[in-house]
Amino acid sequence: MNIGGRAYRTIWVGDDTQSVEIIDQTRLPHEVAVARLTSLEDTARAILTMQVRGAPLIGAAAAYGLCLALRRDASDAALDAAITLLARQRPTAVNLRWALSQVADAVRPLAPQARAAAAYRIAAEICDADVAANRAIGEHGGRLIRDIAARKGAGARVNVLTHCNAGWLATVDRGTALAPVYEAHDGGIAVHVWVDETRPRNQGAALTAFELGAHGVPHTIIVDNAGGHLMQQGLVDLCVVGADRVTGSGDVANKIGTYLKALAAADNSIPFYVACPHSTIDWALSAGSAIPIEERGAEEILTIRGRTGEGAVVSIAIAAPGSPARNDAFDVTPARLVTALITERGVCAASRDGLTALYPDRPQSDP
Ligand code: MRU
Repeated sequence: MNIGGRAYRTIWVGDDTQSVEIIDQTRLPHEVAVARLTSLEDTARAILTMQVRGAPLIGAAAAYGLCLALRRDASDAALDAAITLLARQRPTAVNLRWALSQVADAVRPLAPQARAAAAYRIAAEICDADVAANRAIGEHGGRLIRDIAARKGAGARVNVLTHCNAGWLATVDRGTALAPVYEAHDGGIAVHVWVDETRPRNQGAALTAFELGAHGVPHTIIVDNAGGHLMQQGLVDLCVVGADRVTGSGDVANKIGTYLKALAAADNSIPFYVACPHSTIDWALSAGSAIPIEERGAEEILTIRGRTGEGAVVSIAIAAPGSPARNDAFDVTPARLVTALITERGVCAASRDGLTALYPDRPQSDP
């Protein structure tokens, strides 16, 4: 996607053909800064501190983390240690574990001296496949938006509500939940996005609004609690969110607050779609209650980061000194509240039958 007329992915291999470069998402929207990762430890830190974030991008970054680890030491022991380190940085997004398995399964049978080069090839394939999947998600989801536009009639805009950031910044490119929006917008549909600010880290206000603005998509930031009210007012035509993990029976873990939006959508008979590539499906789990939920530091709730009038980016305290805070980063939306899943293979019911119909051949290497 474009920022200021320049095409970017969120992650790429540097000119030295070994280091890995990322858009540092902790600096957005105030600055577009590129960070260079040269080691396994750099990569683990980038995932934990959310310089890279969003389930598919976490997976891609982890794959490159293994490449950097194998350059230094390609033994089985080093491979296992790198997988353990990377996997524990963000426990909810299953794409992380999926990408690690893709690389590990491919390199383990090889002689150590061949492993690093093979890992770079697999990581690049993961990235390209992510972009292709998101393009297909955009086409399938774009048709849903187009249908609503046709029902509303000429001149009416389609209002989409989204939560967190499941746009191109959360993936290698194009995004999952926002891919249908880009597809519809680029195809001439009048589309407008309600952007949940997404406390505590404000991925909506900082990232989703940034990327929609860079692409020229009309949007409005709202506080996280406004969605239900806007739905009651008839101002939301559909919700589209991403996912960090979808169980084999269609329960969806996504950014904290997603569940409340799904409840409000159900109460107002508004379709609630979840966009996800196959790498987000955890076939081994059935019940959403079994999904591990990441708990992050209380400081994310007790402080807020922003730019002062003078241009300095600062973090300030917003709570009564000494008050504790609890920071569950994700929640689970039960399948019954999900109108449908939008995958790269098409749109399906959020159920084991729905998923199995689209993925009868699910790769054996999927976890
Ligand atoms: O904590 P984050 O910012 O990594 O959470 C991101 C989300 O919850 C996204 O909605 C999800 O990863 C889908 S990304 C296409």
